[in-house]
Amino acid sequence: MKKVRIGVLGGYRGSSMINYCKRADNAEIVAICDKLPEVLEAQRQRAEGLNIAFYDNFDDFIQHDMDAVVLANYANEHVPFAIKAMKRGLHVFSEVLPCQTMKEAVELIETVEETGLVYAYGENYCYMPAPFEMKRLYQQGKIGEFEYGECEYIHNCAPIWHSITYGERDHWRNNMYSTFYCTHSLGPIIHATGLRPVSVTGFEGTKNERNLCGGAKGGQFGMEMVTLENGGIIKSIHGNLYKNSVWYSMYGAKGRMESAREDAQNGGVKRIYVNCDEYAGEYVKKDPESYEPTYDVLADTKGYGHGGSDFYSMYFFVEKILGRKDADTIDVYEAMDMFLPGMFAYRSILNGGIPMEIPNLRDKAVREQWRNDTACTDPKVAGDMLLPTFSKGTPDIDDGVYAHMKQLWDTECESGEGNYRSSAFHQGAKK
Ligand SMILES: NC(=O)c1ccc[n+]([C@@H]2O[C@H](COP(=O)([O-])OP(=O)(O)OC[C@H]3O[C@@H](n4cnc5c(N)ncnc54)[C@H](O)[C@@H]3O)[C@@H](O)[C@H]2O)c1
Repeated sequence: MKKVRIGVLGGYRGSSMINYCKRADNAEIVAICDKLPEVLEAQRQRAEGLNIAFYDNFDDFIQHDMDAVVLANYANEHVPFAIKAMKRGLHVFSEVLPCQTMKEAVELIETVEETGLVYAYGENYCYMPAPFEMKRLYQQGKIGEFEYGECEYIHNCAPIWHSITYGERDHWRNNMYSTFYCTHSLGPIIHATGLRPVSVTGFEGTKNERNLCGGAKGGQFGMEMVTLENGGIIKSIHGNLYKNSVWYSMYGAKGRMESAREDAQNGGVKRIYVNCDEYAGEYVKKDPESYEPTYDVLADTKGYGHGGSDFYSMYFFVEKILGRKDADTIDVYEAMDMFLPGMFAYRSILNGGIPMEIPNLRDKAVREQWRNDTACTDPKVAGDMLLPTFSKGTPDIDDGVYAHMKQLWDTECESGEGNYRSSAFHQGAKK
């Protein structure tokens, strides 16, 4: 079987995709790029005798003889790298989020269209067992047409903030606004229904103590109330509330289904509950079904993160490259359907909570209005359209907060007792 030759940018989260390529029948890892020498060194030590080239520079990395790249670099910097890679003829798998400005969204879509390459958005939560089954049932018409849904991705990162921001004041996680990281919650319902979001109203968590003491400058959590093209409504919530929860619920014209509510670290959302009638309007008392679904493609997903979903997002990407038309990937338009509600929810918040229309970037004429829109919270990209990270203004955080986070991070690396990155990884990296 032909193996797709893959290079991975970003050696932290990228470890998951590297591991996929090491174990997979349909792919192999041929190159790894990270600007941090200790990250490259740790990956070198794990190379297991494989023929992998290591790069500390993206421009050199994309010269490597390969078919596709995985972008597991900073969440707000995927587009420039995606465009460069596609212009070199490489297929792209992008970690979350797909872009950070409307200008980037337009450029990304146009590059995918021009090159005709596979672009897959790595919203792995769509591939957790319960949401994946919810999509299958919805597409079969099991609950009828979508009317209302709720989705949650609550991850209290306060205890691990130093391990994921390293005390860097301008780390993307410290600069993101409350509704930015929205696709773990919204993604699975968008993917299940295939419906396009048309408008959104945003809300921002303002009790910010847990955020501020780690150096995060955005609102503690974000909420979107999204209207879909068929009039259906989604309530989406994500961020830094105190107890973790990943949960999806959908109501249709014939019934409802929901996943079990799981802690984010419990290895994915597995159990599903379904309660629906045979026909719309029928109302007979029936016991709801409850089960743990299995996938059509039975794979050994042990060791893959996020309940095995990290396996499936990569598996379908590679299958798509190999020409399997029905491979269940998330294309660039759907990636925007998952992301733009969060971006425009923040514009709603900054405008006092008014509903905002979500542009339909499938329409080429609509793109013209957004082609030069660089509004975001990243000073490197926004130019004169820089947004505050919080609706009441970007908080002024003392240098001491970041110094403290850096000290915690350094201590964690030295002790090898990290709670997010594996301790072995860092001990290896320090040698
Ligand atoms: N889907 C999920 O469940 C999930 C979970 C965690 C992280 N993520 C995503 O993974 C991505 C990476 O997050 P992370 O947690 O690894 O932390 P991170 O964003 O702090 O690290 C990114 C890595 O990329 C490297 N990098 C960044 N820019 C580079 C460049 N120009 N050249 C070479 N190397 C570069 C950094 O050195 C670092 O090792 C983000 O997009 C994040 O949203 C997704």
